Amino acid sequence: MTTPDAGPEPKTILITGASSGLGAEMARQFAALGYDLALCARRTDKLEAVRDEVLAADGARRVEVRALDVTDDDAVFAVFQDFASTFDTIDRVVVNAGLGKGAKLGTGGHRANRQTAMTNFVGALAQTDAALEIFRRQNSGHLVMVSSVAAVRGMPGTTATYAATKAAVAHLAEGVRADVHGTPIKVTVLYPGFITSEMNDGTNGNPPMIVSTEKGVRAMVTAIQKEKDSAFVPPLPWAPLSVVMRHAPMGLYRKLV
Ligand SMILES: NC(=O)c1ccc[n+]([C@@H]2O[C@H](COP(=O)([O-])OP(=O)(O)OC[C@H]3O[C@@H](n4cnc5c(N)ncnc54)[C@H](OP(=O)(O)O)[C@@H]3O)[C@@H](O)[C@H]2O)c1
Repeated sequence: MTTPDAGPEPKTILITGASSGLGAEMARQFAALGYDLALCARRTDKLEAVRDEVLAADGARRVEVRALDVTDDDAVFAVFQDFASTFDTIDRVVVNAGLGKGAKLGTGGHRANRQTAMTNFVGALAQTDAALEIFRRQNSGHLVMVSSVAAVRGMPGTTATYAATKAAVAHLAEGVRADVHGTPIKVTVLYPGFITSEMNDGTNGNPPMIVSTEKGVRAMVTAIQKEKDSAFVPPLPWAPLSVVMRHAPMGLYRKLV
């Protein structure tokens, strides 16, 4: 409901993996746009720091934080339902929690690959299922899936499993889009390029064409606000580069990745 005095009612965005990197910065930027925040991750001290920072900038915002390990299916459903009861309406869910661990296949690193697969795909599956329960009940909502440019084509070495999980979540979101086509429920898939975060903190050397957290997340927020079906973020250089990555002959591709 809108009253002349109160202004438009704030929208609520639920962000997973909001304790650091892109998730924490999305929280800051969406709060600055007037959103109330439902934030979760495993490290509640970091979530509380994000909450305190947001509230210091704008005391009118409402920020709720919950501990959540996205590999615990039951907890994903419970925390999402808890947020839905607390806020009445959840306008957006950003499936963002992710892990970049990995080992070259066949080199004894199955544990790291499995952990990445369980977090990035099975965890995202539970989050998508839990979000859709809420959106179907509301008959509205916007699902945002954080994939990666690594989803464009199979990746070698330590990134093979990670890339496969990011292709899988993009495919999952496309399936949901087909399911909800013609309804008020919308789906966006984001394909971030390299953006500074804990995952990409420069300790292993900076990846090429990396941008600051603030700049990269600004591009993500813009695409989300426009409810685009899909977007490379930032668009340059990643949108054109993704075409090269997808179609390059293997010899050239191996030099690129
Ligand atoms: N940065 C990039 O260049 C880039 C590029 C493409 C895609 N992405 C994607 O962007 C997303 C955010 O990553 P980031 O770059 O911001 O890295 P990050 O700073 O390492 O943040 C990852 C977030 O995911 C959370 N997380 C990890 N495992 C979790 C679990 N089991 N349960 C709940 N939360 C978990 C972490 O929180 P806790 O540890 O507190 O649980 C943290 O908040 C990921 O999906 C990543 O794949 C990033």
